[in-house]
Amino acid sequence: MAEFDWDSLKTEAAAAMGHAYVPYSHFPVGAAALVDDGRLVVGCNVENAAYGVALCAECGLVSQLHITGGGRLTHFVCVNRDRDVIMPCGRCRQLLYENGGPDLLLLTVSGVKRMDEVLPDAFGPDDLA
Ligand code: THU
Repeated sequence: MAEFDWDSLKTEAAAAMGHAYVPYSHFPVGAAALVDDGRLVVGCNVENAAYGVALCAECGLVSQLHITGGGRLTHFVCVNRDRDVIMPCGRCRQLLYENGGPDLLLLTVSGVKRMDEVLPDAFGPDDLA
C-alpha cells in the first residue's frame, strides 16, 4: 500500500488556517483530517471576546465531520501560521479520541502517532457503556 500523503493533508490544514478568526491570540490554526470513507474535513480556530470560549480548529473539523455524514477520522494533522505541525490541546485530544478512536493516526511534532499514544488511557465512550 502506498505511503500516506501527510504533506497533502498538511496543505489542506494550511488552507483552512487561512480562514482562522484570531483577533485576540493572533495564532491561527488549521486542522485537516481524512474520514474512513475518503472524505476530507477541515477546521480553523474562531475566537471570541470572551477569550475562554474560543473554538479550536478541531471543533470546526468535528462539526464538519458530523454535518457531512459522520464516520470515523483516520488521519489528522493541525498546523500553525508557518505550516508547522502543532499538537492538539487537551480538550481537542478528547474530541479526536471520540471521533477517531484509539487507531486514529496523527502527524505530531514527534512523527506519526496513534491516538492512544497521544491520549493514553483515555476516558471514552466505552467507559459509559
Ligand atoms: N488552538 C487550536 O485551534 N487548536 C489547538 O489544538 C490548540 C489551540 C487555538 C485556540 C486559540 O484560538 C489559539 O489556538 C491560541 O491558543
